[in-house]
Amino acid sequence: MVKKWLRESDYTVIFTGAGMSTESGLPDFRSSKQGMWNKKDPSKIASTRALNENVQEFISFYRERVLGVKEYKPHKGHFILADWEKKGTVKHIITQNVDGFHQQAGSKHVSELHGTLQKLHCQSCGKEYSSEEYIHQEYYCTCGGVLRPSIVLFGESLPEEAFHTAYEEAVKADLFIVLGSSLSVTPANQFPLIAKEHGAKLVIVNMEKTDFDRYADEVIHDRKIGELLVELNSNDSPE
Ligand code: APR
Repeated sequence: MVKKWLRESDYTVIFTGAGMSTESGLPDFRSSKQGMWNKKDPSKIASTRALNENVQEFISFYRERVLGVKEYKPHKGHFILADWEKKGTVKHIITQNVDGFHQQAGSKHVSELHGTLQKLHCQSCGKEYSSEEYIHQEYYCTCGGVLRPSIVLFGESLPEEAFHTAYEEAVKADLFIVLGSSLSVTPANQFPLIAKEHGAKLVIVNMEKTDFDRYADEVIHDRKIGELLVELNSNDSPE
């Protein structure tokens, strides 16, 4: 059905989570096999408390993640979504991901709800830096403050502009497709419901069940996102 809905849709919005980038080589957070939060407590590492009380562990964890997004690249699924934007099929991507892969693949209309690992900023004065500083093991601002990735840590609020744009796009969507998210984290997980409440068809593509499956018009649990997007993109596959 998804292929038919994509063809008929006037305003498709895509919502991505960490499952969109596992086929690029990046681990996700909660999948039973490889989820990062199965081995680490997020509140002890991905929080402002960790930044203040445990800065060395915080920096080494995020330096690893910055190295990861520099080493790995967008996969075919990212490029298909960018192509669908060029063709006018996809109007916007709302992403929880901080890897920047949608933009690297060519997508222009992207809202990064949880910020980006491509940038750092000083926790004291706010001055912005490239995440290359972490690669070169530079961890402090010229003002002496600690440099941290420009991502949303647990305990912080979402960037206002990204949030409002995502809300407007979810309201306008007539087709809202979730790709690779457990939908465990608020307020990001509210956007599929906002789209549904405003009349969109909701599709959830995720290897594992989510608490939002019951609201979806179609749920796909048995396909990897990359393969599914290739199939949806081909002209000869059935509906
Ligand atoms: N194809 C389909 N689904 C996949 C694939 C794949 N190739 N790889 C992983 N998945 C699914 C997993 O089964 C999992 O349910 O993607 C989902 C990813 O869920 P999470 O790991 O919880 O990631 P996400 O939903 O993006 O987490 C949201 O939590 O820690 C915070 O800020 C972090 O943005 C993140 C937020």
